Amino acid sequence: MNQNRVTEILNIKYPVIQASMSWITSAELAAAVSNAGGMGILGPNAGQTTLTIDSVETAERMRHEIRKTKELTDKPFAVQYFIPFPGDTQGFSSRVLQVIREEGIKNLLVLGMSLGNEAEEVRNLKNEGFTIIYRDLNPTVESAMNIEAAGADIIIATGYDEGGGLPVHAIGTMTIVPLIADAIDIPVLAAGGIVDNRGVKASMILGAEGVYIGTRFVASKECPASDISKQDILNAKTTDLVEFKAMPAWRSTPHKLSLELYNMDQNGASSEEINKRMGSIGGIRAGMLEGNLDNGINSVSNAIELIKDINSCKEIIEELMRDVAY
Ligand SMILES: Cc1cc2nc3c(=O)[nH]c(=O)nc-3n(C[C@H](O)[C@H](O)[C@H](O)COP(=O)(O)O)c2cc1C
Repeated sequence: MNQNRVTEILNIKYPVIQASMSWITSAELAAAVSNAGGMGILGPNAGQTTLTIDSVETAERMRHEIRKTKELTDKPFAVQYFIPFPGDTQGFSSRVLQVIREEGIKNLLVLGMSLGNEAEEVRNLKNEGFTIIYRDLNPTVESAMNIEAAGADIIIATGYDEGGGLPVHAIGTMTIVPLIADAIDIPVLAAGGIVDNRGVKASMILGAEGVYIGTRFVASKECPASDISKQDILNAKTTDLVEFKAMPAWRSTPHKLSLELYNMDQNGASSEEINKRMGSIGGIRAGMLEGNLDNGINSVSNAIELIKDINSCKEIIEELMRDVAY
């Protein structure tokens, strides 16, 4: 059986990790990816359909989803941990982390947002014994070196081609992956615009030892995103996509709300104003989970035009990994 450092560290068959995605991950999605030999991740609001502003309730909901995932797979999976940020006055991050500890989860997807506290957090989590896959929202060579020194196990290099909140620097995946892979010794996962076998092979040639994929798994049978959102991905062209700065910037297929946000941006609205109108991350819940494209956004990668079908996670992973040397 093939192995590389990523599959060895995570104890999985293929170095394919399903990305954390707000609202549209679930026990079923993560378990399907893990059962197919990759590794699934439970992201924020995994398996949920309603918003709670109660941090205890948020953490208990995550406990429920973790337990459900354990029922569906005996393979490794991970849970996202947000490094605490100033707006988190209710302690959402720390309460979710406590549940992660209590449920015996070893693999953490740690998201850093360039606040300056990342290295210390990673060091503490590592001392607790977690396996840490670290993703900086705004990846740089300096941050990757800093986090490697703090003890992370794997670093994700995310290019601007990604779906989700966009990095502040418009550095494409072709550039950020080799920049970071050259600068650190621990393994790198490539992220951003990887949707097929060619993307995986290219990532490996660029110096990655695995891939971290969001948008392609949205167009999977097991993803809890609405069929409307999935069909919209199959229909949209890359050149149709609109970007607008909120907090951070986003890219969406063009519909009523996303076009309004794009126009606000073009007409000089501030990121705070645009963010407020979008309803913060609720834009994904409405657009992607509920399929309400008029009142939400469909946040996707630049590479959507290459996605032709909605497949099972197993079929997607088999296609991604066909003849990949690792
Ligand atoms: C709908 C959507 C929601 C996302 N939400 C999050 C999130 O909550 N936390 C996070 O760390 N990354 C989030 N991301 C980014 C992904 O983790 C990942 O970096 C990205 O999907 C990789 O690029 P790709 O979509 O081209 O595969 C999201 C991505 C998408 C498409």
